Amino acid sequence: MSLPHGIRTLGVLGAGQMGLGIAFVAALRARVPVLLHDRSPEQVTKGLALMDKLLAKDVAKGRITSDAAKDARGLVTVVDGLEGLRDVDMVVEAVSEALPLKQSIFGSFAATLRPDAILASNTSSISITKIAAAAIPEGVSPASEAGKQSAGRVVGLHFFNPVPVMKLVELISALQTTPETLDRARAFAIACGKEVTTSKDVPGFVSNALLMPFINEAIMCLEKGTATRDDIDTTLKLGMNHPMGPLQLADFIGLDTCLAIQQTLYEGTRDSKYRPSVLLERMVDAQWYGRKNGKGFYEYD
Ligand code: CAA
Repeated sequence: MSLPHGIRTLGVLGAGQMGLGIAFVAALRARVPVLLHDRSPEQVTKGLALMDKLLAKDVAKGRITSDAAKDARGLVTVVDGLEGLRDVDMVVEAVSEALPLKQSIFGSFAATLRPDAILASNTSSISITKIAAAAIPEGVSPASEAGKQSAGRVVGLHFFNPVPVMKLVELISALQTTPETLDRARAFAIACGKEVTTSKDVPGFVSNALLMPFINEAIMCLEKGTATRDDIDTTLKLGMNHPMGPLQLADFIGLDTCLAIQQTLYEGTRDSKYRPSVLLERMVDAQWYGRKNGKGFYEYD
């Protein structure tokens, strides 16, 4: 195996803002061929158009040559269905934050992918241990060698949005994850140009156990009328040098995603400090998801 991560082909499941970003850095930075799948063809078209735009911008700014851009774009191939990912050395799942969906996907990975392929999830808060428990072929005991081996190749590989810009990947080890899986996943993230921190598999990991209460407090400030939306965001932007205020950041992440993460934190810890604000719940009830669909705390074109 000449590469430290041994990834000759990467699969990415989900072509939303995270999945596309992961495909982008894998192709451009790690120079690994990427097979991309999303059940929505519109999402794939939108994602690839964004990739073209980002590559063109990097060329225009003189950061990469047009040949490098062409090479990176040529490394990304769209495939139909999970079967298209059958021969990859590693797959990164980047679908919505719903445990049953992830369990079903990792069950299919265990049934269709090679037994030595690494199965990574980009989840922001869901237990990697629960996801790994689903990555065992039917009829195989989790306590058997085959069961431990299958679940042992599952790992959390948490990228941040926008993936091409944010320098961090948070690496999360499930109870079942083997040291070899962790080492290879870390080496892959480094090859994608990222710094890596490690977190235990606790609800929200380090990143969202800290970020989500902060965002939630900001929403509660707005709810209580402590300050206006703009004053809350400006306080954090200018007073603490945050690139975005917390309400702007919540819109950027997606209010539905913020709520899903907060629910995972609250249910996973049973600690009332993580209870999502009623205003956030109501905004998601109204299907105001933030930047992705045009309306959140702010309005977007
Ligand atoms: N995709 C790719 N690149 C993007 C982008 C996107 N969606 N949005 C912005 N960029 C790039 C721009 O093209 C620009 O690149 P160049 O330097 O090459 O021109 C660069 O980012 C800066 O953009 P702008 O000048 O337009 O705007 P800005 O200076 O305000 O920066 C920002 C934008 C980088 C998003 C900045 O506001 C920021 O860092 N915000 C905080 C983002 C953050 O906290 N992300 C983590 C969220 S949490 C998460 O993802 C995980 C989770 O578990 C919830």
